Amino acid sequence: MKQSSAICIAGGGSTYTPGIVLMLLDNLDRFPISRITLYDNNEERQAKLAKACAIMMKEKAPDIVFNWTSDPQTAFTGIDFVMAHIRVGLYEMREKDEKIPLKYGVVGQETCGPGGIAYGMRSIGPVIEIADYMEKYSPNAWLLNYSNPASIVAEATRRLRPGKHIINICDMPVALETMMAAALSERTGKTYTRKDFEVRYYGLNHFGWWTDIHTKDGKDVMPILKDYIKENGFATNAKDFQHKDASWKETYQKAKDIYALDPTTIPSTYLKYYLFPDEVVAHSNPAYTRANEVMEGREKEVFGIAERIIAKGTAKEDTFAVGVHASFIVDLACAIRYNTKERMLLIVENNGAIANLDDTAMVEIPCLVGSSGAEALTVGKIPSFQLGLINEQLYVEKLVVEAWIEGSYGKLWQALTLSKTVPSASVAKKILDELMEANKEYWPTLS
Ligand code: NAD
Ligand code: G6P
Ligand code: MN
Repeated sequence: MKQSSAICIAGGGSTYTPGIVLMLLDNLDRFPISRITLYDNNEERQAKLAKACAIMMKEKAPDIVFNWTSDPQTAFTGIDFVMAHIRVGLYEMREKDEKIPLKYGVVGQETCGPGGIAYGMRSIGPVIEIADYMEKYSPNAWLLNYSNPASIVAEATRRLRPGKHIINICDMPVALETMMAAALSERTGKTYTRKDFEVRYYGLNHFGWWTDIHTKDGKDVMPILKDYIKENGFATNAKDFQHKDASWKETYQKAKDIYALDPTTIPSTYLKYYLFPDEVVAHSNPAYTRANEVMEGREKEVFGIAERIIAKGTAKEDTFAVGVHASFIVDLACAIRYNTKERMLLIVENNGAIANLDDTAMVEIPCLVGSSGAEALTVGKIPSFQLGLINEQLYVEKLVVEAWIEGSYGKLWQALTLSKTVPSASVAKKILDELMEANKEYWPTLS
């Protein structure tokens, strides 16, 4: 019989928590669990979801211990995995990350450009704090972190807690592969899922390209997929709870314009913020950004379901949705726990995998995952266009982490100035000063 795992979900009050709990319950045959503990530093927010999850747990899996806490010792003692998705500063701060740059005509986005940098400066400390709680209370546990901005957080964990059991992940490649599988099914009349693919891909998080996609039975499907994306972008009817809003659909369609720039690869959708920033800004409403859309949409929806479950005392009528996100995390936990050597795209230290890139870059590339963690596969040399873009963005991210560690205003100004989304050092300074004021509760003091 498989040994079961004790899980802590950090950021228990996240809109993604119920979906992850459900996904864990749906996969107990391959990933048995003895305990799920939710941990959040916002007790009130967490309790709203936790009470609904408790009802769901009692109905679906009464044998699994389920509890929630804001006490680190209770949360992190005796656990095997921490699945972390914290949002430091909540949507209130995300809204500022998006709206402040837009005032200056610059992209306002959760993980890209100045907004991503501001969010990075908030996330580093609390993610490291979680790693330290784990070190103290469950030193052999694995931290599977998808708290954003994942690239900056990954660089921070590399610098500040090297060699620890930490893996940084993102669901965007998985979400896009799910859409590509739907596109392939549509074009061939055969049913495919993302699990039928074996891919070659490289980049930074939210900054990558597929160079090859074969089905596991050896068929090169890149030509069919490229042909599809050239016409439609990633616009398919694939079901995806996480990315269902109109703004996501536009992002998926925009991939056809990114594709046109390099028809030898298939791009990540996030490249639009770097390659078409003028269009993105022109289409943005500085008074109503994605944060507002999420607060009105996903947040209300998830917390509304929780309220109904609590009011009725049963989860049999209402259920939460499970995102692509969740399945990927179970795959990863299984690979580590049972040494499956599953191949997945993860954010790991380059160490020569991309031959012509800084060894210390945290890159998103295919890895084989087993009990000792992720083993990266070799990528080789990458071409000039991607190398140039990646280098610029890589050193933006490194400068942010250096600025956080050293408390350096100058390095953070350099980071904003270097970002492809920002037109000049003077605009960078104006945005930085406003972001710094808005984030004074969260950032280290800079001088
Ligand atoms: P949310 O605001 O609904 O939830 C975040 C929770 O984290 C909140 O309950 C908050 O109180 C808690 N939190 C904040 N600081 C904390 C701390 N120091 N310790 C413990 N808990 C803390 O946000 P959401 O939209 O559900 O997203 C959650 C996170 O997951 C975000 O970082 C988001 O960017 C990330 N995410 C990442 C991916 C990926 O691909 N890597 C995909 C989806 C979401
Ligand atoms: C994708 C990305 C995540 C990001 C999320 C934002 O899943 O990979 O990193 O957090 O989208 O979605 P939202 O719906 O909150 O804008
Ligand atoms: Mn992501």
